[in-house]
Amino acid sequence: MEEQKKNMLSLIQPTNTPHLGNYLGAMQNWVKLQNDYNCYFGIADLHSITVRQDPVKLRNQIKESYALLIAAGLDPEKSTLFVQGHNSNHAELSWILSCYTQFGELSRMTQFKDKSAKHADNINAGLFTYPVLMAGDILLYQSDLVPVGADQKQHIEIARDIAIRFNNAYGETFKVPEGFIPKFGARVMSLQDPSMKMSKSDPNPNGFVAIMDDPSVIMKKFKRAVTDSDTFIAFDPENKPGVSNLLSIYTSFTGLTMDEAVKHFDGLGYGSLKTEVAEAVIAGLEPVQNEYKKILSDKAYLEKIMADGAEKASAQARKTLRKVYRKVGLA
Ligand code: TRP
Repeated sequence: MEEQKKNMLSLIQPTNTPHLGNYLGAMQNWVKLQNDYNCYFGIADLHSITVRQDPVKLRNQIKESYALLIAAGLDPEKSTLFVQGHNSNHAELSWILSCYTQFGELSRMTQFKDKSAKHADNINAGLFTYPVLMAGDILLYQSDLVPVGADQKQHIEIARDIAIRFNNAYGETFKVPEGFIPKFGARVMSLQDPSMKMSKSDPNPNGFVAIMDDPSVIMKKFKRAVTDSDTFIAFDPENKPGVSNLLSIYTSFTGLTMDEAVKHFDGLGYGSLKTEVAEAVIAGLEPVQNEYKKILSDKAYLEKIMADGAEKASAQARKTLRKVYRKVGLA
């Protein structure tokens, strides 16, 4: 039974403050997918040091993002939940794959270009080989499917190219992965500028709702959300992007269809819409927030599941790495 399920893998960086967009666009989907796939979900701590980090903060953020995976509903018994840096196979495979990746193809990566423009004083080699480490993450677990946002598509492409190149040189070694865009992921827009994706780097902090925001803060942010100068509630992302974004968040948390949601708000004003959406978000996040706090306060439990996850991940990754060593002639 287990063997027939496809492998799915995705990692998140521990340094991004998780917000509603990450939750509805990624984590909530992962929870739904964990029964249908053989899932590997992890924390990309090694990727995060391509940008300078404060060690004390980083150490905490790794634990916090791991705790959030579990608080969001991922089950460490069903899925393999791990921290990349706790499993040395990632760094090892990354080195080997870097010898099968061309300077030219890494130079064309748009994220490298963007990040080197943003961090002009620290254009380190890790920033350049970032996609190779990511290819290693994916290929180590023979992943079939990799759920990611649109900004990571180019990285999936290069992982595929590296896998195909290696397989052509040495015979079937890696599964060639595919990107995976879940059908039900909501695209959450900024509450202040609904033409932009919700982002923690929104210049206006009222534009995004962090998963750990207090209920009063969540309410305040929704009350200040941008709508439009009409007075009726309808789902029309083109002409009513603000109202439509609120409706879409509402359906994600209530499980209602869009038609049902629109009907529910029939005859009501924007004030009630904002309050009810905020209430649905607060109620939906409450169990996640409570569970998160509980896990973080139980250090022994957290360390135990992290260690178990690392062991499970390593055992799987080691199989692939051994094969690679043999194929290349290192073993
Ligand atoms: N680069 C991804 C991001 O910033 C994180 C990541 C690292 C990842 N390794 C991965 C995503 C492997 C999917 C698969 O979002």
